[in-house]
Amino acid sequence: MVNVQQGIGYMDSGVGGLTVVKEALRQLPNEQVIFIGDTARNPYGPRPASQVKEFTWQMTNFLLSKHVKMIVIACNTATAAALPEIQTALDIPVIGVIVAGSQAAIKATKNKKVGVIGTIGTIKSQAYPQAIARQAPQVEVTGVACPKFVPLVESDEYKSAVAKKVVAESLTPFDNQHIDTLILGCTHYPLIRHLIQNRIGDQVTLIDSGAETVNQLSALLEFDQLAAPARQPQHEFYTTGNPEMFQRIAGDWLELNDLDVRHIDLTE
Ligand code: SIN
Repeated sequence: MVNVQQGIGYMDSGVGGLTVVKEALRQLPNEQVIFIGDTARNPYGPRPASQVKEFTWQMTNFLLSKHVKMIVIACNTATAAALPEIQTALDIPVIGVIVAGSQAAIKATKNKKVGVIGTIGTIKSQAYPQAIARQAPQVEVTGVACPKFVPLVESDEYKSAVAKKVVAESLTPFDNQHIDTLILGCTHYPLIRHLIQNRIGDQVTLIDSGAETVNQLSALLEFDQLAAPARQPQHEFYTTGNPEMFQRIAGDWLELNDLDVRHIDLTE
C-alpha cells in the first residue's frame, strides 16, 4: 500500500538525472529524493537497447527495495528502451522524460521545425519523432546524436575549453536547418546548456526534457493524491561508481554540500 511519506525514486545512467533532481528539489521541496546513478556502467547511449533495459530493471528493483511511491526514469536512453515495459509491470506510477520534452517542444515551436539531440540509443530509437508525431504530425523533427557530450560531463570536464569545441563541432548538422526549438534529449545536457545555447543561437528555444518532466510529476502527485505533507526530507543518493566524484559533481550542480552519497553494486 503506497503512502504519501514514501520517497520518489529517480534513476539515471550516471549524474545526468541530477538535472531532474535539481528541478524536483525546487518544485517539490517536501518530497524525499532517492536517486540511483549507474555511473560504473555509464554511458548507456552506445549500448544495445536490450542491455539498457536489463540495467534499467536492476535500478528499478533497487528503488523498489527502498519502498518508493513513484519512479522517474531520469534518463532518455533508459526511457526509450524500457519505460513501457516497466510501466506495465509495476503497480506504482512510473514516468520517463520523453513525453514531457516532446509536449514542451510542440508548444514552443512556431515554425514547426524542431531539433533533438541525444545519445546514439535515444536518436536511433526514434522515440522523440514518434512522440511528437502522435500529437503534432505537421512538426518536422531532426535528430542528431551527440555521443561525446555524456563522457565530458561524467569526467567532470564539462567546464573545459575542450567542451566548447566538442559542442561546436557536434551541432554542425543543424547549420542551415532553421530549427527554432531544440530538445535537450539527454538529462546530462543541461550541464552544458550555455555552450549549446551559444553555439545554436539565442533565436532557438532550448527544451530541458528533465525539467519538463518535473512539471508532469508535480501534476501526477496531486492527481494521485500522493503529495507529501510539509517536512524537511532526508535525501539519499547512490552510485555504482566512485562516490567522491559523484559527490563533487552533485554537490556543485545541486548547490548542496552535505549530500549523503553511498556506493552500491547492482550486479550482486
Ligand atoms: C548515457 O548514459 O549515454 C546518457 C543517458 C541519457 O540518455 O540521459
